[in-house]
Amino acid sequence: MSAIQKIKGFADLFPEDARSFTHMEAQAREVFGRFGFGELRTPVLERTELFAKGIGEDTDVVGKEMYTFTDRGDRSLTLRPEATAGVLRAAIEAGSIEPGRATRLYTFGPMFRYERPQKGRMRQFHQINAELLGSPEPQADVEVILMLEDFLKSLGIAELSFELNSLGCRECRPDYRAALTKYFEALDHEKLCEDCRRRMHTNPLRVLDCKVPACKALVADAPEIGQHTCAGCRDHFAAVLALVDKAGLKYTLNPRLVRGLDYYQRTTFEVTSGAIGSQTAVAGGGRYDGLVKLLGGPDAPGVGFACGMERLAMLMEKPEAPRPDFFLAVTDTREGTDAVNTAILLAHKLRQRGMTGECDYAPGSMKSRLRHAGRIKAKKCYIIGADELDSGQVTVKDMEDGEQLKLDIAAFD
Ligand code: HAM
Repeated sequence: MSAIQKIKGFADLFPEDARSFTHMEAQAREVFGRFGFGELRTPVLERTELFAKGIGEDTDVVGKEMYTFTDRGDRSLTLRPEATAGVLRAAIEAGSIEPGRATRLYTFGPMFRYERPQKGRMRQFHQINAELLGSPEPQADVEVILMLEDFLKSLGIAELSFELNSLGCRECRPDYRAALTKYFEALDHEKLCEDCRRRMHTNPLRVLDCKVPACKALVADAPEIGQHTCAGCRDHFAAVLALVDKAGLKYTLNPRLVRGLDYYQRTTFEVTSGAIGSQTAVAGGGRYDGLVKLLGGPDAPGVGFACGMERLAMLMEKPEAPRPDFFLAVTDTREGTDAVNTAILLAHKLRQRGMTGECDYAPGSMKSRLRHAGRIKAKKCYIIGADELDSGQVTVKDMEDGEQLKLDIAAFD
């Protein structure tokens, strides 16, 4: 019978890879903690309407990529495709958002999108996500961007480029949308993909984000948002850029950066790397004023970002496995002796003293045991052979300088 295999687009993380994830989480806790952010853990499953409403019916994420099913109680539920909607739902439900007072939350975990898997694109992937709720000020956008930069730097990832844009707000976006629709109508729009022929009327900004080459070519000369934003949005973005400049962050302005989720207003940003194939975005985010209210909360603004952990893992140096303090080798192969039990109990005592290490359950040759101790980079090899067992001692070999000494096993009691 063939063994059951994992689902396409889902991955198992063995220690070598899981170590990178643990390291990223530890760095995020450290860096985000310095900015006053606290951890929130939300469920992976939410009501489908949360995402339909929050992310937008006309996005690829909601329209094509969600893992949605009906549970046994006939409710439509969805595995979260991103964290923001769930974080806001939780904060609204707990009554923890107050306009004018910043609420700072971060969360980690698996997200689910039914996309075509390829390098850096999974159906289950992990995000590190941060949200700053309640502050409309441009300084909040900048703090979040600087926090993201500090976090990425803490992972030792170089050569990332920041791209920034402003998407306008509820006041000025309709004007831009109208300009875009007009532009597409004047074009040979039969060349747009089927989705975009619909979107050019329902949500023309989405056309700018379409990955189909024919659509990409047609949007090349589309009007830019900057020509349509209101004075409030212009001032806000100018203040963001001025402060980001003062902070010394290098970035490029990308007027085509619309992001794949509909909730953004004003500042949006993405961090890309050329080093991970075609899936270049390692992080993305922006301001989403209006979303908290849309989801039934107070009229409080928000700004945040998410990093893709699988993509960051590809760019990071893999953290080394920690070196064990000991490997306890049993080399007494005589029948009927208590060598393995003695070793297990000794290893247990060493661990109770704070040491890390492992012990074999079956005895073997000295040579193969020392080879194993070397392979796992143990600092010391403890050896229990026939002589040691008879004398109640253990040989301790320093794996660095080769020095050996004998210690009484009873001394560890
Ligand atoms: P997003 O751009 O959809 O934004 O996703 C953020 C990051 O998640 C991407 O830059 C990418 O690194 C990673 N990612 C997305 N999809 C996949 C995938 N299929 N496989 C691997 N990695 C992936 C959001 O999700 C927003 N909620 C970010 C945000 C937070 N905006 C405001 N607050």
